[in-house]
Amino acid sequence: MYKINENYLKLPGSYLFSMIGKKVNEYSKAHPEQEIIRLGIGDVTQPLAPAVIEALHKAVDEMGKAETFHGYAPELGYEFLRQAIVENDYKKRGVDIKVDEIFVSDGAKSDSGNIGDIFDIDNKIAVCDPVYPVYVDSNAMSGRTGNYDSKTEKWSEVIYMPCTEETGFAPELPKEEPDIIYLCFPNNPTGSTINKTELQKWVDYALKVGAVIIYDAAYEAYISEEDIPHTIFECEGAKACAIELRSFSKNAGFTGTRLGFTVIPKELKCNGVSLHSLWARRHGTKFNGAPYIVQRAGEAVYSEEGKRQTKEQIAYYMNNAKVIREGLKKAGYSASGGINAPYIWLKTPNNMTSWQFFDYLLENANVVGTPGSGFGPSGEGYFRLTSFGSYENTVKAMERIQKL
Ligand SMILES: Cc1ncc(COP(=O)(O)O)c(C=O)c1O
Repeated sequence: MYKINENYLKLPGSYLFSMIGKKVNEYSKAHPEQEIIRLGIGDVTQPLAPAVIEALHKAVDEMGKAETFHGYAPELGYEFLRQAIVENDYKKRGVDIKVDEIFVSDGAKSDSGNIGDIFDIDNKIAVCDPVYPVYVDSNAMSGRTGNYDSKTEKWSEVIYMPCTEETGFAPELPKEEPDIIYLCFPNNPTGSTINKTELQKWVDYALKVGAVIIYDAAYEAYISEEDIPHTIFECEGAKACAIELRSFSKNAGFTGTRLGFTVIPKELKCNGVSLHSLWARRHGTKFNGAPYIVQRAGEAVYSEEGKRQTKEQIAYYMNNAKVIREGLKKAGYSASGGINAPYIWLKTPNNMTSWQFFDYLLENANVVGTPGSGFGPSGEGYFRLTSFGSYENTVKAMERIQKL
């Protein structure tokens, strides 16, 4: 008789977005005349840039001719894309990452969920609280997180690093020593960042205690301030303790096109064993490459036109972020984020819980956001708004919130 992976049974239901959907559907059924504005989504809405579309068309045509047809992609990804990544994301920032240290993938969600494969089950993970849920759930699926307590909404074997107003929405070095540290900056959901000196402290700490940092930089393109690191490899010693995850989803609108990459420096070793080799083995066995046409589209993001056009898209979203930030301030809310990230994190007024505020905003302003408690216990009392909507709707939503 076969057995299932019982770790899956320990997982709490993915309640957050289904609950939001259910509440919004019920409300709009009861009030069909009301126009609901959705500022809860973490998905982009602007179309792909013209340079990307052009590259896609060209690559599709190539696939239709025997001479230019492409089958399986090389295991690490096409060199033309990895070269563009190295030049633009690393060399231009003075960071020496080699082409063969880049693993092209279908996105940061799969990479962040799969990276745990190369680590022993007995490693203890540390995560920010609130957190992008994939880090915790994927570790729970492999049995690394102990048991879930629905009262505290915590796993017994996970080190939670609260990121609240008191900590400036940044994690503090944990008291208990972790083996694997997940960091995400600019952060989803809080929209916070840390400067280079702060990130260097994490790198130094990881080197001291012998931990590895999984650094998710999916929102790197939204950084607008000078002192914020674009890659963890700007920090000294990071190549000996960090893995970086990147995505084309938020910098170029590839959420439905799918492309990302992971950087594992060759000098990252655990007791003399190269993590690069382990991931290469895993990648080659369980992944068969991102499509040629999508990798060509990714290459186009780094063309002069592609850079200009995607920058414009980000500026569009960040203008929305400014409208939200300033609108909330005018309405008397305490809000952070939205400067180096497309997320604005606000404190719910009058001690409302995150879900009470969700209902209040839906019913009184017809605006949908995301309850902070859905990202972890320290998210209770907070609420996430995103700048991925249209400018017109963002302005309208803020006008409604100011009238409350
Ligand atoms: C922090 C973070 N990492 C990764 C992802 C997923 O990226 P991708 O679309 O490349 O899978 C998201 C998506 O919302 C995210 O917020």
